[in-house]
Amino acid sequence: MADLVDTAREVARHLLETPLPRRWSHVQAIAAKADRISAAVPIEDRAVLVASAWLHDVGYSPDLVDTGFHSLDGARWLRRERFNERIAALVAHHSCAWLEAEERGLGDVLAAEFPREERVGRHGQREKINNRIAVSSALTRIEPRQPIRFEKKRNMRHRLPR
Ligand SMILES: [Fe+2]
Repeated sequence: MADLVDTAREVARHLLETPLPRRWSHVQAIAAKADRISAAVPIEDRAVLVASAWLHDVGYSPDLVDTGFHSLDGARWLRRERFNERIAALVAHHSCAWLEAEERGLGDVLAAEFPREERVGRHGQREKINNRIAVSSALTRIEPRQPIRFEKKRNMRHRLPR
């Protein structure tokens, strides 16, 4: 776990600390939280969870901006740099990125480059999921009274896939 997480932290530091110090502070706080909750996910997922937390906002780095949609820009860069593919997918989809992607006219691009998976729900329904489900579930289990910053998007719920 240490190698992947250490690399992720140093990459994020390099890309964010000097040009975007407030973003770097935010990322440090998120990574600390991910580390605290990592015991709630299977051991084989822990390094990916924490490394993803370190890297989730690298797309804001002036060095990486391409489309201006930080989730996609960061994920594309991580893929080009041959980071773990799950990390790239988690970065691509963090914070319900597909909603913002649609608003920016990049929904099809995000879906094509980083497809969301489909699963069968408890009642037999087919559901789109993305790679943040395990993380958000873990957060919900650990701190059920802590909202996961969905407030700003709650009024867009009617747009969730059926
Ligand atoms: Fe963030």
